[in-house]
Amino acid sequence: MIRNVTLEKLFVHPVVQKYVGRSGMAHAISVAEIAFDIATKTDVNPDLAAKGGLLHDIGHYKWYHPNGKWDYELYKDNDIHAIKGAARAHKLLVRCGENLQDAKAIALAVLLHTNSYLPQGQLQLTPLQKVVAEADEADEEPGGNHHYRKIDHETALQRIQKLDSNIDQFLRSNSLERTS
Ligand SMILES: [Fe+2]
Repeated sequence: MIRNVTLEKLFVHPVVQKYVGRSGMAHAISVAEIAFDIATKTDVNPDLAAKGGLLHDIGHYKWYHPNGKWDYELYKDNDIHAIKGAARAHKLLVRCGENLQDAKAIALAVLLHTNSYLPQGQLQLTPLQKVVAEADEADEEPGGNHHYRKIDHETALQRIQKLDSNIDQFLRSNSLERTS
């Protein structure tokens, strides 16, 4: 195993099941897959990109109107899910044994995957941060519907395992290229 922490290790963790499950596991897995694809084409570490993709919405919570329904306006005005998510993802990654530099890089990609909560300005995103933000955007559906897409546990686990093996394969062949 090339990596300390696999996507599967993160996926089965109760914190991921709870919080990523809440914001939409199907969306999170698609974003992880897309981030992997973009990363492999843009010289970004696909392991970090896929982890950032899987965890990018881990800070979401529910903005309910008093009538019990999702309130988009309330959400738009008050949301800080990226801040909460960065801290939550970082704690989880460190506890799972992630390299500290990598945990920080992934947490920063989660923090900056959206700018909807930030004051107007120009952010200079790193390539990794761009990959996670682009992957998220690529999987978004109008009206926030991507958060409600369903996936069963078995299918989710299989896609996570497939992505893990793609990452391992990519990292292995790339390190071979570099040493030869
Ligand atoms: Fe998202």
